[in-house]
Amino acid sequence: MDQIACLYEISQALSNTNLKGSLKQVLSILHDYMGIERGYISILDYHQAEIHIEVAYGISEEARRRGRYRLGEGITGEVVATGRPIVVPIIGNEPRFLNRTRTRTEHEKKSTSFFCIPIKVGNQVLGTLSVDKRLEQEERLQIDLRFLSVVAALIAQTVYNLLVFEAEKRQLEEENIKLKEKLIEKYDFKHSIVGRSKAMKEVLSLTARAAQSDATVLIRGESGTGKELVANAIHYNSPRAKRPFVKINCAALPETLIESELFGHEKGAFSGAHVSKKGQFELANGGTIFLDEISEINHHLQAKLLRVLQEKEFYRVGGTKPIKVNVRVIAATNQNLEEAIKTGKFREDLYYRLNVFPIYIPPLRERRTDILLLTEHFLEEFNKKYGKSITRISTPAIDLLMKYHWPGNIRELKNCIERAVIVCDENVIRSYHLPPSLQTAESTQTQKGSSLKLAVESLEREMITEALKATKGNCSQAARRLDTTLRILSYKIKKYGLDPNMFK
Ligand SMILES: Nc1ncnc2c1ncn2[C@@H]1O[C@H](COP(=O)(O)OP(=O)(O)O)[C@@H](O)[C@H]1O
Ligand SMILES: [Mg+2]
Repeated sequence: MDQIACLYEISQALSNTNLKGSLKQVLSILHDYMGIERGYISILDYHQAEIHIEVAYGISEEARRRGRYRLGEGITGEVVATGRPIVVPIIGNEPRFLNRTRTRTEHEKKSTSFFCIPIKVGNQVLGTLSVDKRLEQEERLQIDLRFLSVVAALIAQTVYNLLVFEAEKRQLEEENIKLKEKLIEKYDFKHSIVGRSKAMKEVLSLTARAAQSDATVLIRGESGTGKELVANAIHYNSPRAKRPFVKINCAALPETLIESELFGHEKGAFSGAHVSKKGQFELANGGTIFLDEISEINHHLQAKLLRVLQEKEFYRVGGTKPIKVNVRVIAATNQNLEEAIKTGKFREDLYYRLNVFPIYIPPLRERRTDILLLTEHFLEEFNKKYGKSITRISTPAIDLLMKYHWPGNIRELKNCIERAVIVCDENVIRSYHLPPSLQTAESTQTQKGSSLKLAVESLEREMITEALKATKGNCSQAARRLDTTLRILSYKIKKYGLDPNMFK
């Protein structure tokens, strides 16, 4: 064998930037020059304390994948563990030989030698170089071992690079997955907005469509139904997501301040305006502005807002030159705007400008199927927040939650679950952990159903509920149906915590 020519070719092969490819080529060169029958380069995975064949010559891909050894296991495991080479003159005579790749026939085992040499950088063993070679004369074994040790030293750097490369690749992949998950979690409103009722599915699909468009959105719904949550979801799923999202509660600011808050002011515009100041519309440029409780702005501001929506420009308070902005408007209200138009409180033209993309969120009592889902969602949230591990909600407590009419909607349910988690010192939320407003006469489950009083109450409640259902919540009609007076019915409705509006 021409050792110099062989080493030269190996060094050429190692200059290849494809690390695995060049190692494969080295094994093939060993076949050409040394006549090896099979060759293996195995590497140690520190995390799993396992050695596996990374590159092979002369065996099938399946056989390569079978080549896995624990540290100290078999010849390969022992070489990695000790850092010293092993030569087995005749495989068949070596009890430690595992033949895990199952590639050698019984006949071959009687005439084949196995060389296993550690691949090291400094004192650190990275893996092994091993070969199957037909046994010729015993004295050649030492010569071949020495030569293979040189080859192992030559390829060590490449194996090291391969290990680092693979580790970095895996780390990047893991980081990438984590980052993507975070983004999805933060922006995917399908997870932040809970609800599987038909009504909520509709809201979700409208929200998704609103996010894609750049239209002005008007979100309607009672207080606590999730209007602000939907506004957030629209912005953070829209092309403007990386630009500012500014929220203004039009009811929270006094009329005198809100104009300059929204549109800014020039120096000297009013007493106290010592410097000029940008308004929220300017600060939101490129992004979205959320105008909550839009029904609360006065006529002057309504006109100004209309102009922004039509012309995309406005004047600062005390300003003389128009300011151009590119801002998307999302407005919300729990008021009946149509009524406000009739009474002259709200401009009709502004209403049409706002109502380009309406989203209505129904009250919680109209989508009771969401109650359990939301309860579980908040339970998980507050378990985390307060370090508790409440696993269950008792059936009577669930009954209370399901029956209640939730005038404060999801906000009220959320507060109710938070309170329950705080006061609950077992792992089950029970009815007495819920606020008194939920405890109707029927559901104080302390005395079980054997009493006549309870049975009568239960029947009464049921009959009243039926009558209210049949009359769509009209109490006078319901009283007539039940052959009682409106006064008595009203009293019982209150007693049983019913809400006639629920049946409209
Ligand atoms: N569908 C929902 N899923 C999860 N949480 C919700 C949902 N709707 C509302 N919430 C929560 O309820 C509370 C009130 O919602 P919010 O958007 O402020 O209501 P609104 O603006 O209509 O008064 C918030 O804490 C919000 O996160
Ligand atoms: Mg709100």
